Order: sequence, then C-alpha cells, then structure tokens
Amino acid sequence: MQAANLGNIMEEGQWALIAGSAEGLGEAFTESLAAQGVNLILLDRKEDALNEIVKEVVRKHGIKIVPLCIDLADENAWKVCMDAMRDAGCRLLVYCAAMSEVKPFLEHSPGTLDRFIDVNNRSLILLVHAFAGYLKEQGKTGKILLVSSLAGLLAPVYIAPYAASKAFLVALARSLFYEFKPYGIGISVCVAGIIKTPKFLESRAEGRIAMADPYSVAAYALSRCGKKAVCIHGWKNRLNYFILSKMLPASLASYFVNRAMRIMYPTFSR
Ligand SMILES: NC(=O)c1ccc[n+]([C@@H]2O[C@H](COP(=O)([O-])OP(=O)(O)OC[C@H]3O[C@@H](n4cnc5c(N)ncnc54)[C@H](OP(=O)(O)O)[C@@H]3O)[C@@H](O)[C@H]2O)c1
Repeated sequence: MQAANLGNIMEEGQWALIAGSAEGLGEAFTESLAAQGVNLILLDRKEDALNEIVKEVVRKHGIKIVPLCIDLADENAWKVCMDAMRDAGCRLLVYCAAMSEVKPFLEHSPGTLDRFIDVNNRSLILLVHAFAGYLKEQGKTGKILLVSSLAGLLAPVYIAPYAASKAFLVALARSLFYEFKPYGIGISVCVAGIIKTPKFLESRAEGRIAMADPYSVAAYALSRCGKKAVCIHGWKNRLNYFILSKMLPASLASYFVNRAMRIMYPTFSR
C-alpha cells in the first residue's frame, strides 16, 4: 500500500469511520487517513480482509483501530456504526462501500434490488442523519464524505439500480451541504469515473479502459471534503461531463454513453 499525498483533512489523533475499508477505494482511504495519524473505525463485511488491513495499518502507522465486521445491508448496521462513532468521538464519516453489478435490469431479483437500496442508500442516509445529529447536539464540527460515480450523473444502460442509487447521493450531498454549513458540518460527494479496484476488475469489462488509481481518488476526495458539495475526480471526467451534460442534446449524450457501455460489456448487447 502506498500513502496518498493530501492536504490534512483531520488532526492527528481524531477518529474517522470508513465504511467499506478493506479493499479498493476504501483501502486507499484507510491508508491515506492512517498516514495522517487519524484513528480509524474500519468497517467491512469480509472478516479476513479486515483483520489483515488492521494488522498492516497498525504495524505501519501505529494508530488506534476499532474493526467492525458487519454487512451494511443489515437493518441495524447504521446503529452499530453510530454507537462506535459516539464511543470514539468520531469527526469524519467516509461511506465508501457500495453494491454494484453490471447486468440487464430485468435479470435482477427483487432481493438484489432491495440490497442496492439497503447498502447504497438506506444505511447511508440513516447514518448521515444520526452522525450529523450527534455532531450538532455535541456542538462539534465534522465531515461527511460520500462516494458516487459518473454513472449517477450519466445513467448508462445495464447499471440502472447502481446509477439510480448513486444519483441519490448527489442530490443528498447537494441539499445537505447548505443545510449543514451553519453547524460546521461539511458534507461532500466525490463523483469518480472508473477506478482500478478489484471490484471493477471483477466486472470483466472489455477494451482499453482508462482507470484512475484509487489513491489519487482518495486523496482528491479527502482534500475537497467539506469545501464543495459535488466534486468530480479528474479533469478528463470533468470535461467529459461538461460536454455531455451542457453541450450535447440529452439524447446524443445518452447515445455516446450507452455506446461506450456496450463496447465494455458486449455480451449484454447480443
Ligand atoms: N471501482 C470503480 O470503478 C468505481 C467508479 C466510480 C465509483 N466507485 C465507487 O467507489 C466506491 C468503492 O468502490 P470499490 O470498487 O472499491 O468497491 P466496493 O464494492 O465498494 O468495495 C469496497 C469494500 O467495501 C466492502 N463492501 C461492499 N459492500 C459491503 C457491505 N454491504 N457491507 C460491508 N462492506 C461492504 C467490499 O467488500 P466485498 O468485496 O465483500 O463487497 C470491499 O471490501 C463505491 O461507492 C463505488 O460505487 C467505484
């Protein structure tokens, strides 16, 4: 693992919770915050991967860690997180984990669709509500970082439940950014393009794909957190989004976005 170079978002010794911390982008957040001396509540559903990262981060950075092995789809996951955050006096929530699957909409079962909502939206909004309420009640400042995707802004084919759940985060952060400002609570959503994570590689996308390094996304997201409601990672993503959303008619923009998706996942187009 390699630490990202980022402007300090937290003071040494403060606590943060990272939901989805053992792999991919979450692992990059873990390493980046640990390198700043931030103590961490690390949540993931994979016990072995969680234990491994706890051992490695403690050895490298000597910070305090509370591991939480839970599934964010569980009804009470947000309460377990909030109890741990209250006990530690947490000042930062990074909600990174997400359910994602590329597949035609009608091939999803009702149970899978429920899971998209539970992991990506229900537990997230309840935890944001509980954590912001806790900070306000304690008169403390704090930060909340959500992770969305260009899919949430552009809504390509074959990822409707994922794209819809990620659009939810953009609206949530945009609205709460101004509502929370007077309390000194900064909330932001980082919108990322494709990131080179095990989860993305598992999706078996085809062709030459430009993938961002998770450490650069984590560094960018942490450095922007609380400063701007919606932060799009990478100048190419910002430019593409500007062209697709502001310069082209919506139908033409969808044509290009869907064509790129069909090239990456040709089996679904047959
Ligand atoms: N990768 C990309 O190309 C990309 C692009 C744009 C945005 N994003 C966003 O970036 C974030 C991180 O993505 P990622 O690719 O690193 O994959 P991810 O699926 O979010 O995985 C990160 C970690 O979270 C864990 N996790 C997933 N669901 C969980 C649950 N229900 N409860 C507890 N832990 C859970 C994963 O465990 P498991 O392995 O067991 O699932 C994994 O260890 C997500 O919000 C994603 O939407 C990713």
